[in-house]
Amino acid sequence: MEKTVVLVKPDGVNKRVIGKIMTYLEDAGFKLSAGKFIRLTDDIIDRWYAHHKDKSFFPDLKKFMMETPVMAMVWEGEGVVAKVREICGPTDSLKAPKGTIRGDLGTDIQHNVVHASEDESNAKREIGLLFSQEEIISY
Ligand code: CMP
Repeated sequence: MEKTVVLVKPDGVNKRVIGKIMTYLEDAGFKLSAGKFIRLTDDIIDRWYAHHKDKSFFPDLKKFMMETPVMAMVWEGEGVVAKVREICGPTDSLKAPKGTIRGDLGTDIQHNVVHASEDESNAKREIGLLFSQEEIISY
């Protein structure tokens, strides 16, 4: 079954909206297959955001992602990758419509509460970076 990775970023952890974010995803019919707090390291962030490494916002992004542990989750379901990105809304929280996670809970383009895998191949790569097979359950 198709899987995606969702991270509740440090702004979401600090705002105590982890449970709310899970509810958006459960209400959409998706199943939580794995979840844990992880303190992202320098090395993981470099690999996670390899495509953003040369961007001007990268140093700030890295600092932000290390402010607190993130809640890393694997969600499962048909069409989960694209649907979860829809539920999250566009990257910039200020432009995200109400009813999306970022529109309802985010602050700006960086403090956008969640990360969601871009496509299935990135989801597989991200699962490999953060989870072992034993941590992903089926029920
Ligand atoms: P995410 O979807 O996790 O992917 C990369 C992250 O970088 C993004 O969410 C934002 O948190 C951040 N980001 C993207 N664009 C910008 C930008 N222009 N300025 C600051 N942060 C950004």
